[in-house]
Amino acid sequence: MSGIGAKWSLSRRIGKVVITFEDDVPVQPAPEPLRLDSAPTYLISGGLGGFGAATARHLAARGAQHLTLVSRRGATALEAAELLAELGTHGVQVHVHAVGVADEAQMRRVLKSQGFR
Ligand SMILES: NC(=O)c1ccc[n+]([C@@H]2O[C@H](COP(=O)([O-])OP(=O)(O)OC[C@H]3O[C@@H](n4cnc5c(N)ncnc54)[C@H](OP(=O)(O)O)[C@@H]3O)[C@@H](O)[C@H]2O)c1
Repeated sequence: MSGIGAKWSLSRRIGKVVITFEDDVPVQPAPEPLRLDSAPTYLISGGLGGFGAATARHLAARGAQHLTLVSRRGATALEAAELLAELGTHGVQVHVHAVGVADEAQMRRVLKSQGFR
């Protein structure tokens, strides 16, 4: 209790503990929800499944309007159709690339085609 300047007293007769605070307890305001700049393109490797797809939804919900999603199967992955339809209904422009991220030459092509430097 010493850190927040509290005082306490104990009454054994009636079985109550009373705590009073001498100093204000610091209360932090909740941080503002993340708002993303809608202009840039956000690239998510593995962005068509699992955590990557969840990240795509998360970014879209916070204002991202341009997403580049990279996975080896690309749009043919079973889980891709639902994600792409969902992002489309929110007006998000999505570019899908069927590329393994360990393939440097292909990744360079992806980055160049999307205007990344
Ligand atoms: N889910 C969990 O609870 C959990 C917990 C801790 C850590 N992790 C780790 O987090 C990572 C993602 O997990 P997840 O559950 O989201 O997996 P996931 O559902 O299998 O999704 C992985 C995504 O990455 C793509 N991918 C895999 N290898 C790729 C490559 N070489 N190049 C491009 N895309 C690739 C996959 O598509 P393609 O197959 O078409 O390439 C898929 O879209 C994994 O490394 C996993 O071990 C997951």
